[in-house]
Amino acid sequence: MVIHNISSSLANSLRQRRQRLANLIDFPAILWSGSSSPRNFPANVFPFRASSHFLYFAGLPLPKAAIRLEAGKLELFMDDPSPSSALWHGEIPKREEIAQIIEADAAKPLTELEFCVAEAATIAVQDAATWTQQSQLLNRWVLPQNPLQGIDLELAKAIVSLRLTHDEEALTELRKAAGVSVEAHKAGMAATPNVKREAEVRGAMEGVIIAHNMTTSYNSIVTVHGEVLHNEQYHHPLQPGDLLLADVGAETEMGWAADITRTWPVSGKFSSTQRDIYDVVLAAHDACIAKMRPGVEYGDIHLLAATVIAQGLVDLGILLGNAQDLVEMDAHALFFPHGIGHLLGLDVHDMEDLGDLAGYEEGRERSDRFGLGYLRLNRPLRPGMLVTIEPGFYQVPAILNNAHLRSKFENVVNWERLSQFNDVHGIRIEDDVLVTQEGSEVLTAALPNDADTVENLVNG
Ligand code: GLY
Ligand code: MN
Ligand code: MN
Repeated sequence: MVIHNISSSLANSLRQRRQRLANLIDFPAILWSGSSSPRNFPANVFPFRASSHFLYFAGLPLPKAAIRLEAGKLELFMDDPSPSSALWHGEIPKREEIAQIIEADAAKPLTELEFCVAEAATIAVQDAATWTQQSQLLNRWVLPQNPLQGIDLELAKAIVSLRLTHDEEALTELRKAAGVSVEAHKAGMAATPNVKREAEVRGAMEGVIIAHNMTTSYNSIVTVHGEVLHNEQYHHPLQPGDLLLADVGAETEMGWAADITRTWPVSGKFSSTQRDIYDVVLAAHDACIAKMRPGVEYGDIHLLAATVIAQGLVDLGILLGNAQDLVEMDAHALFFPHGIGHLLGLDVHDMEDLGDLAGYEEGRERSDRFGLGYLRLNRPLRPGMLVTIEPGFYQVPAILNNAHLRSKFENVVNWERLSQFNDVHGIRIEDDVLVTQEGSEVLTAALPNDADTVENLVNG
């Protein structure tokens, strides 16, 4: 448990966040932090991660705690550590000390919570022990997978409107996460010529993150099979002709995330086919970032990426036809099947515990189109939003061998030409981009992404 004094600027931000919430809702909210889940027996647990909504207002990752927010005031509910706790976990500050640190207006044991739940809204925490407790105390089902209703929905909308754009304190943390993630990627590139397996590159990258006393903000992807979008296997050997795709991001002690992907040649030199496709993905990445500014629809950024990729593949002779038409018929999605990115903040897919409430502007719903269904964000950009831009190209067997898709796109793919690109399994280039008043700022810009410099980083 990380409990230390917090800076006066963080304390100030926490107060402002609580006050801004109070300006949006006229009922109390109770947010639970959650508890650690056992791995194989109760005393051996997965690392604790506090609920992001709790962290946003409480500022410290306190396990088994709850806060009641009303009219800008915060009451902290948590139990003091048991007498035996000091033996195993060291001295942990008592409730009253923690209350002082986070400037709580009152501090009470957890048993008192049952007297304060009337008319209170909440949001389900992911771990079962906690949502069971939430359901029992509030006397209604509070389940992570249930659609939000009534005051819970109103609370969620209010929190979304706050967390959608980041205050200075959040941005300081997000920049820290980005900086350490950049160093992790450089370490991964530099380690590649000296190692034999994906796992060793992962070790070099996560080692940097751990050495900064941070954790990864999601399970790292470090793979020569980048076509498996969320590959979590690290046992493959690195062969000279392989591309290695690394999607690795750090999370600060306070829970703020980064999310970066780079793809580099194991040998330190892209083949000509790998380079051709890499440059198409990079062109899409750069075009998207160049277009970002307040008011621009994120959905249009996605379509821009799709169009640049389609045009690039036409130029390479892989797709046949006009780029715009190809995107309209979703042909780009054969190779770029996911969305251009997502919100980033305390969660790597920020606020996705609320379904599409944060990602989709009110009144909008996910499309069922092949080329649009995985779009996670569909809103106009606003200053202070942090999003990822992560175009990619993948040869996914489940897509390219799908009989229905194959016949639908039979005439717009030059399959023979495509077969010349067999050494490209998956390429993604992902950066974290802050929307500013005038345009955008790439928080991860210190990590080069042009093919030459990436090669140089691998070659040391
Ligand atoms: N790291 C997961 C993602 O890029 O969405
Ligand atoms: Mn991402
Ligand atoms: Mn990622």
